[in-house]
Amino acid sequence: MTSLTGARVVVTGGAGFIGSHLVDELVERRRVAQVTVVDSLVNGSRENLSARLADPRVRLVEADIRSDAALRALDGADVLFHLACLGVRHSLHDPMTNHEVNATATLALLERARAAGVRRIVHVSSSEVFGTAQRVPMDERHPTWPETVYGAAKLAGEAYARAAFRTHGQPVIVVRPFNTYGPRSHFEGDSGEVLPRTIVRNLCGLPALIYGDGRQSRDFMHVTDTARGLATLAECDDAIGRTVNFGSGREVTIAALAETVARLTGRPGLAPVHLEPRPGDVRRLLVDARLMHRLTGFSPAMPFDAGVADLVTWFRGRPRTPQQMLARIEDRNWEPAGSEDAAGADRVSGVGVPA
Ligand SMILES: NC(=O)c1ccc[n+]([C@@H]2O[C@H](COP(=O)([O-])OP(=O)(O)OC[C@H]3O[C@@H](n4cnc5c(N)ncnc54)[C@H](O)[C@@H]3O)[C@@H](O)[C@H]2O)c1
Repeated sequence: MTSLTGARVVVTGGAGFIGSHLVDELVERRRVAQVTVVDSLVNGSRENLSARLADPRVRLVEADIRSDAALRALDGADVLFHLACLGVRHSLHDPMTNHEVNATATLALLERARAAGVRRIVHVSSSEVFGTAQRVPMDERHPTWPETVYGAAKLAGEAYARAAFRTHGQPVIVVRPFNTYGPRSHFEGDSGEVLPRTIVRNLCGLPALIYGDGRQSRDFMHVTDTARGLATLAECDDAIGRTVNFGSGREVTIAALAETVARLTGRPGLAPVHLEPRPGDVRRLLVDARLMHRLTGFSPAMPFDAGVADLVTWFRGRPRTPQQMLARIEDRNWEPAGSEDAAGADRVSGVGVPA
């Protein structure tokens, strides 16, 4: 084990959902010497780091990871956590930019990290590289058949990271989180995730919207566990050169998720509304977490019900009302590039009646 204590760390995407919790973990519990967050704030925010930016150990470089300013941030760093990326829905309407950020910029960061002598690199990939589960639980040898450009670009990014280890001996760890949820998760726009969107809708008295039959499933981990796991993996020497799946090992269907949220928002009778299935929506995801556990001893601590209750409480405490948040949700089916008109026609934010 190589402790992070005293290290100079760069976190790309550190103003985002998971990245900002990772910064909390690094500063509060790992006692690093310095964290440099590199984030363009396209989907992240200063607010996510508000508790941290007053700390002299934390600085924000507001830059695109494709820029020289971002690459320069690696000079003098000991550890790089690479999380910056554009999401799955973005990849449907702007696949080229999605690839540039998620794949090409990853290669440029790896090259600069090599030149700068960065001693540990945690490349954060995604379970989306697998596509839908062909067998469960999904171990590291599960075939990779991504269903979206996002999944394909993440697969290219992790392949570059593995190549950096193989060809140059760079100390790279590739980690593939499954679904993460918790405070600061996105409900809004392109980045909106099913759990926060459903909570906001239920808090407004509107039913959950389910694309398809609701039997599609995901493996959800609370973000405090995700942040702790990423830091733990970074400290694990035996993980260098490995690709590690990282999830809770609990399979939750979207229908069960909707039932849980309705119960925990005090709307148990609010039946979901079913819409057309999404193109490219993976059917099933469930991790085989044995490698992660064997390498690091890590197990998630937060039960799903308690985590959802925590997130409901967080949303109730937001300065915006649920109705104001609802106005920022894009509840529409996924649309490929060039179909903005169709997307507009397919908006369904108002589906259902207030209870
Ligand atoms: N949230 C999940 O459930 C989940 C699951 C699997 C993998 N992941 C991975 O975890 C990482 C973090 O995801 P997240 O959920 O926190 O997303 P997020 O969108 O909240 O964070 C990504 C951050 O990257 C920043 N960013 C985007 N493009 C950038 C660019 N060109 N230059 C600089 N910064 C840029 C955004 O502003 C944002 O702050 C990603 O790599 C993602 O693939 C997330």
